[in-house]
Amino acid sequence: MNRHIEISNEVYKDGESMGTTKNQIIELLSQTDDYVSGAILSQQFGMSRSAIWKHMNQLKESGYHIESVKHKGYRLLEFPESFSTQEVWSSIKAYGLVQEVVTIKSVDSTNEEAKRMANTGNGHNILILAEEQLAGKGRRGRTWVSEKGAGIYMSFLLHPSFQPIHASKLTLLAGLAVYRGILSVTGLKVAIKWPNDLVYNGKKIGGILTEMSTEMNEIRYVIVGIGINVNGKKMAVDIQSMATSLGLILEKKVNKKLLLSQIVEVFSQLYNAFSLSNSLAFMIEAYNQQCITVGKEIQIISKNESEIGHCIEVGLDGGLKVVIDGEERIIQSGEVSVRGLYGYVD
Ligand code: BTN
Repeated sequence: MNRHIEISNEVYKDGESMGTTKNQIIELLSQTDDYVSGAILSQQFGMSRSAIWKHMNQLKESGYHIESVKHKGYRLLEFPESFSTQEVWSSIKAYGLVQEVVTIKSVDSTNEEAKRMANTGNGHNILILAEEQLAGKGRRGRTWVSEKGAGIYMSFLLHPSFQPIHASKLTLLAGLAVYRGILSVTGLKVAIKWPNDLVYNGKKIGGILTEMSTEMNEIRYVIVGIGINVNGKKMAVDIQSMATSLGLILEKKVNKKLLLSQIVEVFSQLYNAFSLSNSLAFMIEAYNQQCITVGKEIQIISKNESEIGHCIEVGLDGGLKVVIDGEERIIQSGEVSVRGLYGYVD
């Protein structure tokens, strides 16, 4: 049975969902920085101005900052900082990947929360979302700065039946899902930096951290953690030169809820396709097209050495095919850190 639970101080109302009209009102308001008059809205949606006014009040109650000015109309100032469990559940349940949604106000790390749930849980696939992370984790022991409400901090807790050797490929699936989600919601073409970064103009806007627990060469669970800088206004000084947010790039607020559901939709499709075939063949071309590492001179840094190579492509095994000193080699993601020679630094 599907169920949705919530760890937050938000009141959960059974049956409550964000109606289509309200979604459409938000869609319309978010297309302009200007006011949209009640007359236009009531004409557009074929309802009275007082019905529009009621919808606006409900939207405000759900966390949308909407300014209403007499004789001018309504203006969307801010999207809600937090996710409502029920809203998220309504928007993603049809994709069939997860059986539970858990939203948390504040947590150390959604990946860590996913591990705790995996160890006490019922084998469900769960999507865990946090408004802020106090100890967000990046790859290779780094910190993932997770300012309250500014980003999407989410982890999929999954129980695939494929062999552990395939688990790291989920990072590539998630990368493509984030790329496509951002493109469909904002029109912005970010790039994937193999294996786990989303970048724009040399600055990082998102990252993926995949973790796994195995037993007797079987997967107990895999956690795919995704962090996206969505509406952060200002990056911390020490990461300003390396990181940015979608809001800063587009100079407007991005609808986190819509972005989240698009990413879950695409990730679910890719995950289903991958689970059927246990192969990246169906998406490797698309991945390579969006991967900025491909075709570049790169520095491959392992524990003991640093080498310069030329990246040919990402192969079906998810590894990076590179030529180093005239010799072709496959680099696997767990082994190294890869840097572009001139651009973004990992
Ligand atoms: C990286 O770029 O090194 C990976 C960053 C992954 C960040 C996400 S945010 C949600 C999930 N919880 C974490 O603690 N990390 C991942």
